[in-house]
Amino acid sequence: MNYLEALRWRYSVKKFSGEKISKVALENILEAGRLSVSSMGLQPYKLIVVESDEEIKRLIPAFYNESQISTCSHLVAIVSKTKIDPDYVDAYFAHISDERGIDMETLSVFRNNIDKFVSSYDTNTLSHWSEKQAYILLGTMITAAAEEMVDTCPMEGFRHDKLSEALNLNLLEERVAVVLALGKRADDDVFQNLKKIRKPLDKFIKFI
Ligand SMILES: Cc1cc2nc3c(=O)[nH]c(=O)nc-3n(C[C@H](O)[C@H](O)[C@H](O)COP(=O)(O)O)c2cc1C
Repeated sequence: MNYLEALRWRYSVKKFSGEKISKVALENILEAGRLSVSSMGLQPYKLIVVESDEEIKRLIPAFYNESQISTCSHLVAIVSKTKIDPDYVDAYFAHISDERGIDMETLSVFRNNIDKFVSSYDTNTLSHWSEKQAYILLGTMITAAAEEMVDTCPMEGFRHDKLSEALNLNLLEERVAVVLALGKRADDDVFQNLKKIRKPLDKFIKFI
């Protein structure tokens, strides 16, 4: 399948088959996530991959719709940072310096720009900015999954308090932005037969 065929093949699954996806496919999807683009490269997020059936079951009460959760293979919680503190930025620059073998001094202009960006916004704005980066990661993983012929359902339909507690998050620093359920569509998931609803090209694109 080329990527357009893969994107036409995919849909948001409401009922998975319960089968586990292959380790290789999972690793490829997660690696695609790791390679996702983010503003200034700051990657203000992390993934929590829930793979044991017991752990997935434990999370069911946090979701409004049980069907995808009780039948999926894996759940990936995309956790975004609500706080971008100097330690985080320090670690980012130490990593660049290490990976590219360049000294911190050479990175000072870039560093100043990031410090200016971080210090000019309040916590809410930065938290919202982090979530936007998390959604790019979501899109990258959904597309990668489709290429792997792994089904997905992105999910915002969960109770933040319950899910954060179940995942043991530090709410002073992070929150679940969105969850991606992975698996294989169930044969009787009726949604796979519905025509995809997308805007026609002329309502979607304006060429100027
Ligand atoms: C950020 C996001 C959150 C979503 N949350 C849910 C959800 O909680 N439950 C659900 O069944 N579908 C959810 N969806 C799926 C959308 O309803 C679906 O993508 C949309 O209707 C388009 O259909 P398709 O993905 O099948 O092509 C979500 C999609 C996105 C992108």
